[in-house]
Amino acid sequence: MTEITFILPNGGEKACSASEGLSLMELALQNSVPGIVAECNGAAACGTCHVIVDNTLIDILDPISEHENDMLDFTTAPREPGSRLSCQIRVDGRLNGAVVRIASEM
Ligand code: FES
Repeated sequence: MTEITFILPNGGEKACSASEGLSLMELALQNSVPGIVAECNGAAACGTCHVIVDNTLIDILDPISEHENDMLDFTTAPREPGSRLSCQIRVDGRLNGAVVRIASEM
């Protein structure tokens, strides 16, 4: 199991255990993590699964695709250097212990 902690829009935390193969978005939905809506159900078309990853994760994760990069320019919450769509991040052992912040509107 891979342990991932979400930092919630209200500043709280929610720790989740994931099986490999899920997306980070699916993990959030399974655990009722507030702030991940996923209107397009993982098609990288809505931006409502926006999260911010820290520098250590940026180096670990697969590179952002051109489509994901374009979509992140249209999210409701402001884009940040670590912005990603959680539906495009697959959970695997490299993410064990990761802390991911849910993007929130200013
Ligand atoms: S669920 Fe819609 S962009 Fe990720």
